[in-house]
Amino acid sequence: MVLVRETVLADWQALRDIRLLALRDAPYAFGSTYEDQVNFGEADWRQRIARGGTFLAYIPQVGASEPAGMIGGYQPGPGPVELVSMFVRAQARGRGVGEALIDAVIGWARHRDAPSVHLWVTETNKHARGLYERCGFSVTAERQPLPSNPALGEIGMIRPLS
Ligand SMILES: CC(C)(COP(=O)(O)OP(=O)(O)OC[C@H]1O[C@@H](n2cnc3c(N)ncnc32)[C@H](O)[C@@H]1OP(=O)(O)O)[C@@H](O)C(=O)NCCC(=O)NCCS
Repeated sequence: MVLVRETVLADWQALRDIRLLALRDAPYAFGSTYEDQVNFGEADWRQRIARGGTFLAYIPQVGASEPAGMIGGYQPGPGPVELVSMFVRAQARGRGVGEALIDAVIGWARHRDAPSVHLWVTETNKHARGLYERCGFSVTAERQPLPSNPALGEIGMIRPLS
Protein backbone atom coordinates (compact mmCIF):
# COMPACT_ATOMS: atom_id res chain seq x y z
CA MET A 1 0.00 0.00 0.00
CA VAL A 2 1.32 3.42 -0.97
CA LEU A 3 0.23 6.57 0.85
CA VAL A 4 0.82 9.85 -0.99
CA ARG A 5 0.16 13.24 0.54
CA GLU A 6 0.94 16.84 -0.29
CA THR A 7 3.67 18.37 1.85
CA VAL A 8 2.91 20.81 4.66
CA LEU A 9 5.42 23.31 6.05
CA ALA A 10 6.41 20.97 8.90
CA ASP A 11 7.75 18.50 6.28
CA TRP A 12 10.61 20.77 5.24
CA GLN A 13 13.36 18.57 6.75
CA ALA A 14 11.90 15.35 5.32
CA LEU A 15 11.63 17.05 1.92
CA ARG A 16 15.20 18.38 2.14
CA ASP A 17 16.58 14.96 3.06
CA ILE A 18 14.90 13.02 0.27
CA ARG A 19 15.58 15.71 -2.33
CA LEU A 20 19.30 15.81 -1.46
CA LEU A 21 19.37 11.99 -1.50
CA ALA A 22 17.80 12.08 -4.98
CA LEU A 23 20.36 14.56 -6.29
CA ARG A 24 23.24 12.45 -4.88
CA ASP A 25 21.79 9.08 -5.92
CA ALA A 26 20.53 9.92 -9.43
CA PRO A 27 22.36 13.01 -10.74
CA TYR A 28 21.69 11.85 -14.33
CA ALA A 29 17.93 12.37 -13.76
CA PHE A 30 17.70 16.01 -12.68
CA GLY A 31 18.37 19.47 -14.10
CA SER A 32 19.63 20.71 -10.70
CA THR A 33 22.68 19.38 -8.85
CA TYR A 34 23.37 18.42 -5.23
CA GLU A 35 25.80 21.37 -5.06
CA ASP A 36 23.01 23.75 -6.20
CA GLN A 37 20.72 22.75 -3.31
CA VAL A 38 22.86 21.44 -0.43
CA ASN A 39 23.12 24.92 1.07
CA PHE A 40 19.42 25.75 0.81
CA GLY A 41 18.12 26.84 4.21
CA GLU A 42 14.85 26.19 6.00
CA ALA A 43 13.22 29.20 4.30
CA ASP A 44 14.03 27.83 0.82
CA TRP A 45 12.44 24.44 1.56
CA ARG A 46 9.41 26.03 3.18
CA GLN A 47 9.02 28.32 0.17
CA ARG A 48 9.01 25.32 -2.15
CA ILE A 49 6.31 23.66 -0.02
CA ALA A 50 4.26 26.88 0.14
CA ARG A 51 4.17 26.98 -3.69
CA GLY A 52 2.04 23.78 -3.54
CA GLY A 53 2.22 20.64 -5.66
CA THR A 54 5.00 18.84 -3.78
CA PHE A 55 4.10 15.32 -2.65
CA LEU A 56 5.74 12.66 -0.48
CA ALA A 57 5.01 8.91 -0.65
CA TYR A 58 5.15 6.45 2.24
CA ILE A 59 5.13 2.64 2.27
CA PRO A 60 5.22 0.30 5.29
CA GLN A 61 8.52 -1.28 4.14
CA VAL A 62 10.31 2.09 4.56
CA GLY A 63 8.31 3.35 7.55
CA ALA A 64 5.90 6.02 8.61
CA SER A 65 8.44 8.74 9.31
CA GLU A 66 10.69 8.42 6.26
CA PRO A 67 9.34 9.16 2.78
CA ALA A 68 9.82 6.40 0.18
CA GLY A 69 9.58 8.88 -2.68
CA MET A 70 8.77 12.40 -3.80
CA ILE A 71 7.48 14.33 -6.80
CA GLY A 72 6.60 17.91 -7.71
CA GLY A 73 4.01 19.57 -9.89
CA TYR A 74 4.71 23.12 -11.00
CA GLN A 75 2.48 25.42 -13.06
CA PRO A 76 4.42 28.45 -14.28
CA GLY A 77 1.37 29.98 -16.02
CA PRO A 78 -2.17 29.05 -17.05
CA GLY A 79 -0.92 26.23 -19.35
CA PRO A 80 0.48 22.76 -18.67
CA VAL A 81 1.66 21.54 -15.29
CA GLU A 82 5.33 20.54 -15.28
CA LEU A 83 6.08 17.24 -13.49
CA VAL A 84 9.46 17.55 -11.73
CA SER A 85 11.75 15.99 -9.09
CA MET A 86 10.39 12.43 -9.37
CA PHE A 87 12.37 10.09 -7.11
CA VAL A 88 11.82 6.77 -5.34
CA ARG A 89 14.50 5.56 -2.93
CA ALA A 90 16.30 2.41 -4.11
CA GLN A 91 14.79 -0.02 -1.55
CA ALA A 92 11.24 1.14 -2.41
CA ARG A 93 11.44 0.71 -6.21
CA GLY A 94 9.30 -1.72 -8.16
CA ARG A 95 6.36 -1.42 -5.70
CA GLY A 96 4.14 1.08 -7.52
CA VAL A 97 5.40 4.13 -5.62
CA GLY A 98 6.31 5.95 -8.86
CA GLU A 99 2.86 5.38 -10.31
CA ALA A 100 1.13 6.61 -7.12
CA LEU A 101 3.24 9.78 -7.18
CA ILE A 102 2.41 10.44 -10.84
CA ASP A 103 -1.30 9.95 -10.07
CA ALA A 104 -1.02 12.61 -7.35
CA VAL A 105 0.44 15.17 -9.76
CA ILE A 106 -2.16 14.32 -12.41
CA GLY A 107 -4.93 14.87 -9.83
CA TRP A 108 -3.33 18.14 -8.74
CA ALA A 109 -3.11 19.29 -12.39
CA ARG A 110 -6.77 18.39 -13.04
CA HIS A 111 -7.79 20.35 -9.98
CA ARG A 112 -6.02 23.37 -11.46
CA ASP A 113 -7.74 22.91 -14.85
CA ALA A 114 -4.41 22.31 -16.58
CA PRO A 115 -4.79 21.04 -20.16
CA SER A 116 -1.89 18.58 -19.79
CA VAL A 117 1.09 17.44 -17.72
CA HIS A 118 4.52 17.85 -19.31
CA LEU A 119 7.93 16.56 -18.22
CA TRP A 120 11.54 16.17 -19.29
CA VAL A 121 13.27 12.80 -18.94
CA THR A 122 16.88 11.91 -19.66
CA GLU A 123 17.03 9.97 -22.91
CA THR A 124 18.95 7.06 -21.34
CA ASN A 125 16.63 6.75 -18.28
CA LYS A 126 14.73 3.71 -19.51
CA HIS A 127 13.01 2.86 -16.18
CA ALA A 128 11.55 6.34 -15.80
CA ARG A 129 10.52 6.55 -19.44
CA GLY A 130 8.80 3.14 -19.26
CA LEU A 131 6.93 4.21 -16.14
CA TYR A 132 5.77 7.48 -17.75
CA GLU A 133 4.59 5.59 -20.85
CA ARG A 134 2.59 3.18 -18.65
CA CYS A 135 1.00 6.26 -17.05
CA GLY A 136 -0.17 7.66 -20.39
CA PHE A 137 2.69 10.01 -21.36
CA SER A 138 3.90 10.17 -24.99
CA VAL A 139 7.23 11.34 -26.31
CA THR A 140 7.14 14.75 -28.04
CA ALA A 141 9.57 16.12 -30.64
CA GLU A 142 11.26 18.26 -27.95
CA ARG A 143 14.94 17.67 -27.22
CA GLN A 144 17.35 19.64 -25.02
CA PRO A 145 20.63 19.07 -23.17
CA LEU A 146 20.27 18.13 -19.48
CA PRO A 147 21.08 21.45 -17.73
CA SER A 148 23.19 19.76 -15.01
CA ASN A 149 25.18 17.67 -17.53
CA PRO A 150 24.88 18.83 -21.15
CA ALA A 151 26.59 15.63 -22.33
CA LEU A 152 23.23 13.94 -21.67
CA GLY A 153 20.08 14.66 -23.68
CA GLU A 154 16.53 15.11 -22.39
CA ILE A 155 13.31 14.32 -24.22
CA GLY A 156 9.93 15.96 -23.66
CA MET A 157 6.87 13.87 -22.74
CA ILE A 158 3.25 14.96 -22.42
CA ARG A 159 -0.02 13.56 -21.09
CA PRO A 160 -3.18 15.40 -22.14
CA LEU A 161 -5.91 15.71 -19.49
CA SER A 162 -9.42 15.44 -20.78
C1 LIG B 1 12.15 5.98 -12.11
C2 LIG B 1 11.66 5.69 -10.70
C3 LIG B 1 10.99 6.92 -10.14
C4 LIG B 1 10.65 4.54 -10.80
O1 LIG B 1 10.03 4.36 -9.52
P1 LIG B 1 9.35 2.96 -9.11
O2 LIG B 1 8.47 3.22 -7.96
O3 LIG B 1 10.37 1.90 -8.98
O4 LIG B 1 8.45 2.66 -10.36
P2 LIG B 1 7.93 1.24 -10.82
O5 LIG B 1 7.57 0.40 -9.63
O6 LIG B 1 6.86 1.49 -11.83
O7 LIG B 1 9.19 0.57 -11.55
C5 LIG B 1 9.79 1.25 -12.62
C6 LIG B 1 10.88 0.40 -13.22
O8 LIG B 1 11.89 0.09 -12.25
C7 LIG B 1 12.11 -1.33 -12.23
N1 LIG B 1 12.48 -1.80 -10.92
C8 LIG B 1 11.81 -2.66 -10.16
N2 LIG B 1 12.46 -2.89 -9.03
C9 LIG B 1 13.57 -2.18 -9.07
C10 LIG B 1 14.64 -2.00 -8.19
N3 LIG B 1 14.73 -2.65 -7.03
N4 LIG B 1 15.63 -1.15 -8.54
C11 LIG B 1 15.57 -0.50 -9.70
N5 LIG B 1 14.58 -0.63 -10.57
C12 LIG B 1 13.58 -1.45 -10.26
C13 LIG B 1 10.80 -1.88 -12.66
O9 LIG B 1 10.98 -3.21 -13.16
C14 LIG B 1 10.43 -0.92 -13.74
O10 LIG B 1 11.24 -1.16 -14.87
P3 LIG B 1 10.61 -1.26 -16.31
O11 LIG B 1 9.92 0.06 -16.54
O12 LIG B 1 11.81 -1.43 -17.18
O13 LIG B 1 9.68 -2.41 -16.25
C15 LIG B 1 12.81 5.25 -9.76
O14 LIG B 1 13.49 4.20 -10.36
C16 LIG B 1 13.78 6.38 -9.46
O15 LIG B 1 13.59 7.15 -8.52
N6 LIG B 1 14.88 6.52 -10.23
C17 LIG B 1 15.89 7.54 -10.01
C18 LIG B 1 15.36 8.96 -10.24
C19 LIG B 1 14.72 9.14 -11.59
O16 LIG B 1 15.11 8.53 -12.57
N7 LIG B 1 13.69 10.03 -11.64
C20 LIG B 1 12.97 10.35 -12.85
C21 LIG B 1 13.28 11.76 -13.25
S1 LIG B 1 12.53 12.16 -14.85
